[in-house]
Amino acid sequence: MKLTIAALGLLIATGAPAATVVTAAHLFDPVKGLTLDNPIIVVDDKGRVQSLVTGNNARPNIPADAKRIDLGDVTILPGLIDMHVHLTADPTLSGYQGLEYTDNFWTVVGVANAKKTLEAGFTTVRNVGSSNYDDVAIKQAIEHGYVAGPRIMPATYAIGATGGHCNSTEFPPSVKVDSPNIANSPEGFRALVRTLRKYGAEVIKVCMTGGVLSKTDSVGAQQLSYEEIKAIVDEAHMLGLRVAIHAHGTAGINDGLRAGVDTIEHASLADDESFKLAKAHGAWFTMDIYDDDYILAEGAKNGVFAESLAKEKAVGLKQRQTFRAAHAAGVKLIFGTDAGVYPNGLNARQFAKMVEWGMTPVEAIRAATSEAAIALNRADDVGQLTPGHYADIVAVSGDPTRDVRLLEKPTWVLKGGQVVTAPGR
Ligand code: ARG
Repeated sequence: MKLTIAALGLLIATGAPAATVVTAAHLFDPVKGLTLDNPIIVVDDKGRVQSLVTGNNARPNIPADAKRIDLGDVTILPGLIDMHVHLTADPTLSGYQGLEYTDNFWTVVGVANAKKTLEAGFTTVRNVGSSNYDDVAIKQAIEHGYVAGPRIMPATYAIGATGGHCNSTEFPPSVKVDSPNIANSPEGFRALVRTLRKYGAEVIKVCMTGGVLSKTDSVGAQQLSYEEIKAIVDEAHMLGLRVAIHAHGTAGINDGLRAGVDTIEHASLADDESFKLAKAHGAWFTMDIYDDDYILAEGAKNGVFAESLAKEKAVGLKQRQTFRAAHAAGVKLIFGTDAGVYPNGLNARQFAKMVEWGMTPVEAIRAATSEAAIALNRADDVGQLTPGHYADIVAVSGDPTRDVRLLEKPTWVLKGGQVVTAPGR
């Protein structure tokens, strides 16, 4: 970045930004799986962790002009990561209601949701599907400081087949909808991957099987052939991108795993073969097991299609049972909520479900920090607080390894060394 004369003047007037020292009573380290006392974190002027020490006798090298933040009797941990969000979606405008709004309305919704997400302690998100490259726009606006929000890894459009989960299915045949995310051959999908990457995709999201909230399709049905998903994976990996597939159905999950996809989203009807394939290929499952509660409670009022409510009733409990079985089988599970299907900002509600369905609190927190960072291919800058990583930190009042619900109300959030101020804090 070039310094303008004005910015240079400001820098001379105020001095270079100083380091910040953050202290608290406790720190949860997801990599070690341990809670340590009296952490002292020195954050450098670029918003990265310079040093982290714990224990009574720790004496870190603290620059004389450092700003000090003592959080007192709280537990701090790395900023949370949600691997599956849709910032530009609002569940209260479900079904046909969405058709009442102009295209860029959703960009603005995304700006508001980005702020809520960050204030909720989620400092990094993978946005796995939005229209019009909205997620890239919001990411750019956040990075330039226009609006507040998490670090975003954008997928841009979720891609899929004609009539599939990610094709607009609300219209009669006479209405021609521009669908820049649809292909129907291996070569067609290769071209889509290249186009999305060109315009900002950092991960490729594919609608591999039917879904709950889409009209006309069956949740379990595979929608792309093996050849199509293989072409996507080969192309994406060649370009250095990972592939996330929306897949509830067994055959689609298993063909995706055989093709080498990196993360399976939903994974509701995964079977023992899926667990074996996931472990053999090192793939992760991102299972949004809170959504069922919200959809069944609020869906009818929110305008969710009747056929979608029926699909949710068929798949919701099954997905939770699959989560428990996948965990017991040793499949790697990461934290992803599908926020947008329930309100953005309430992401942390899923922690309690993950614990209810078999994870320990330590595993659930890892799934949203150090393990998520590995799945993102960002283990070197997010998900833990070792030197060199972004100083993305959340504080909770109490021990989250005893009560994961504490993560639903962080008392303080830091992103890249900048304090996030939220209403009510
Ligand atoms: N986006 C997903 C779909 O439409 C949401 C599924 C929500 N239900 C659930 N049980 N996780 O398929």
